[in-house]
Amino acid sequence: MTRGDLLKRVAREVLGEDFARRIWRRIEFIGDIALIRSPLNMNPEELRPLGEEILNRIPHVKSVWASIPGIEGPYRLRRHVWLAGEQRSETLYREHGCVFKVDINRVYISPSLNYEHIRVARLVNPGEVVFNMFAGAGLFSIIIAKHSNPSRVYSVDINPDAYYYMVENIKLNHVEDKVHPVLGDAKDVASKLSSSVNRVLMPYPELALDYLPYAVDSLKNSGWVHVYLHVRTERGEHWRTKALRVISERLAEISARSYTVSHVRKIRNVGPRQHQVVVDLYIAK
Ligand SMILES: C[S@@+](CC[C@H](N)C(=O)[O-])C[C@H]1O[C@@H](n2cnc3c(N)ncnc32)[C@H](O)[C@@H]1O
Repeated sequence: MTRGDLLKRVAREVLGEDFARRIWRRIEFIGDIALIRSPLNMNPEELRPLGEEILNRIPHVKSVWASIPGIEGPYRLRRHVWLAGEQRSETLYREHGCVFKVDINRVYISPSLNYEHIRVARLVNPGEVVFNMFAGAGLFSIIIAKHSNPSRVYSVDINPDAYYYMVENIKLNHVEDKVHPVLGDAKDVASKLSSSVNRVLMPYPELALDYLPYAVDSLKNSGWVHVYLHVRTERGEHWRTKALRVISERLAEISARSYTVSHVRKIRNVGPRQHQVVVDLYIAK
């Protein structure tokens, strides 16, 4: 039986068929921590019996938490309520042959970016200088350093806890020679890197459009920019059309010279008619 099937069965036994159907897709695993994304209008304490069953029956789970709906503040943190097992929020999370120490209460972490991390890493050419503007615990930066052969990845975050874990993770994965961690505001780092980088990652939808001019300024003569957006569509409108319109309007405002869109991809739905989308751009200055 797969872990998904086992989860479904546990949720059905504890919560009944109807409620289980709402909940089991909301369970994710970060290392040995199971996280249940609590539905709106529900007291997370009500999830404690499910948390205890998950702890007892799903192999490798040592701690279970409920996350309160919504991501808060500029550091993009979720609030969690402990449900069962060890009362510990730090764990080791593995992706693409790399290991990341993270604390779910102190740094942004989401398995939904798993495919994006390796997709972007595979696009990086040998010798590139990469600028990750919103690096969190360093997942994109370290996976790029491990799977491609960049000359340097500047890996920036404004959250001191994210910086702490990024530095730890650079050491854990032995990429000190490639990944350069920076604590600070990405726009200040962009002005220091002016006209020197080949590729910019902007994995923070709330700031991506505002910071696009800084990303473009940091590029050498030309280069790639990966812009992560949240787009809201009207009835009958396609998310792709909307994302491309938003990008072209923003690039026109900042008078970016010529650009081409090399790829557009929906990562996930983030609400009714709201989509998280990545647009890969090649910009010539
Ligand atoms: C969505 S998370 C990044 C996820 C991360 N790239 C990953 O793959 O797990 C956005 C990050 O941007 C950081 N951030 C917010 N404002 C920033 C700024 N002005 N400059 C640099 N980092 C910032 C937050 O602290 C947060 O860690």
